[in-house]
Amino acid sequence: MTQRVEEVADTAAPFAFDPANVVALICGPEGMTRFAVAGLRRLGVPDRAVWLSMERNMHCAVGFCGHCQLGPAFVCRDGPVFRMDAVSWMLELREV
Ligand code: FES
Repeated sequence: MTQRVEEVADTAAPFAFDPANVVALICGPEGMTRFAVAGLRRLGVPDRAVWLSMERNMHCAVGFCGHCQLGPAFVCRDGPVFRMDAVSWMLELREV
């Protein structure tokens, strides 16, 4: 039995689509999100068409404790869904 191992966004590669008419919604662990975003970029999908659901452990959930803070953004208050072109720098951060 042969198994294929591929990046998550590569599963979309065999399908014909116009990258200008795509909206991508991504949720999941940040490692997977990084691969999905890289794959979508390779396919020509613009960052403004990609929406991310950021996962964070939350405590207060109203923007007071800072537990979910990523730079100037609070995932609980400002998200958890962000458009990729506004938060691409977040994916460059490691172990936050
Ligand atoms: S969970 Fe407390 S600031 Fe977001």
